[in-house]
Amino acid sequence: MVSTPLSELLKRPIAWKTASIDMTVRRVLRSLQANIVKGHGRDHTRNLFWNFADADGDHLRSVVRSLGRRMPSALDQLEATETFKLTGQSGGPVICFMLRPSGYEALDAPDAIPQDEAFLAGMQARGPGAAVAPPINDPEVTEWEEGYRDRIDALLLVAADEAAEAADVADHWKGRLSAAGATLLHEEPGKAQRRKVAEKFEGVEQFGYVDGRSQPLFLAEDVKREPRSFWDPAFPPSQFLVDDPGDDEATSLGSFFVFRKLEENVKGFKDKEDELSAALGLAGGPFEERAGALIVGRFEDGSPVVLNPLPTDMPPVNDFDFRHDEAGSRCPFIAHIRKTNPRGESPFHLATDIGVATTARQERSHIMARRGITYGERQYDEETNDFTDRPTTGVGLLFMAYMSSIENQFEFTQATWANNADFVTGGVGVDPVIGQGPPAPITVPDGWSGASAADFDFGRFVTMKGGEYFFAPSRDFLKNV
Ligand code: HEM
Repeated sequence: MVSTPLSELLKRPIAWKTASIDMTVRRVLRSLQANIVKGHGRDHTRNLFWNFADADGDHLRSVVRSLGRRMPSALDQLEATETFKLTGQSGGPVICFMLRPSGYEALDAPDAIPQDEAFLAGMQARGPGAAVAPPINDPEVTEWEEGYRDRIDALLLVAADEAAEAADVADHWKGRLSAAGATLLHEEPGKAQRRKVAEKFEGVEQFGYVDGRSQPLFLAEDVKREPRSFWDPAFPPSQFLVDDPGDDEATSLGSFFVFRKLEENVKGFKDKEDELSAALGLAGGPFEERAGALIVGRFEDGSPVVLNPLPTDMPPVNDFDFRHDEAGSRCPFIAHIRKTNPRGESPFHLATDIGVATTARQERSHIMARRGITYGERQYDEETNDFTDRPTTGVGLLFMAYMSSIENQFEFTQATWANNADFVTGGVGVDPVIGQGPPAPITVPDGWSGASAADFDFGRFVTMKGGEYFFAPSRDFLKNV
């Protein structure tokens, strides 16, 4: 048996299969909740939002201890995935539990509250208005869906392969938490949408684009599978994991967690794609789909537009950057994936165009581990491999992400990159997918054809409906609370 010092372990991707011989790896992964180091991959979730104002403290603590014992650890999840690959046997449901500072108070554990400014204030205080500079520009709380307007103390996330199983497990915990006097504020079901790319079903968001392909990897086994000539997806685990102040063991770690319900107006977005395609002279031709790719940065099948003028129907690649497109013409600077991950280009542009000095290391520090899932029902035609409906409401993305600093990761990405018309260089416009704030026209160049749509008003088709900032504590804290 060896014991790698924790500080060393958190510097580079963890080889989780050494958990049988390395005590530190074993302790960290047994104490850590599932879904953080790797997405749970289940197609159905139930997200239960709780208020503990009327709960009985002793009873509540006993239910939370039992949750801590029954939830799979990060190691359980990784081992179950291996078994699934070998035998096809389902890994079973995954349960995760996240707290607000007020949730810790209700559990009579105020000393366990992580001291992160954004987490302490919460999304209602930080998102709307100009509470944070630059502002996140969320809608006023009065415009959020009702279930998100009250004080949320905790989130229980249940994920399973089948909808009925997710509902059964959720019902069990609803019963137990309600018996302790907790109030269920809101239940949000998530359902993954998939489309076939290169004979495999990939997860897509509601506008039809493959999502979740580009992820920071912090397991050595995952890194080994990826080519890394242009973009290195390997990240230090310390960018996502922090000490859990609620447990004395140094190997008890947790992670900050951001949840946002983002409604997608599919008809609005798809109509605008058609309008853009006409403005660029692509409508009706073989390159028609490029209009949307210039907005997202990838085609619907996930092919990056900086590399391809057409969709490739190949497994989506992630080993690319923007160094051969310095002018932002093949993949416009406003494209969602270029705004939210400049892949090393921001130090150059910020220094030469705006006069701000920054480093590639700083740029990478803003990346978070995205774990979102779509919500709402869609109609999908297997023949055409496409959705047949175009809803304007009722469908979207439950954006979820783990990180070590809400301010430096989620808030920075939304406010300083996506909402900022001058990022990565002056006057390019805001992210047309998730940008929030005053609407502003954008210029969409299509370097593949030489055409350009100047002063194009793409509009806004993603609306924030509510959300919150949480902390996912260690299982050791939950088991002993
Ligand atoms: C409904 C809202 C959203 C939609 C439709 C959407 C869509 C997409 C799509 C299609 C991709 C490409 C798939 C991939 O590379 O993994 C992507 C990537 C990404 N998105 Fe979003 N997204 C949304 C919300 C957000 C939010 C709120 C953020 C953060 C503030 C965000 C940050 C990112 C990041 C960091 C990437 C990876 C970029 C890369 O590494 O290349 N997204 N998104």
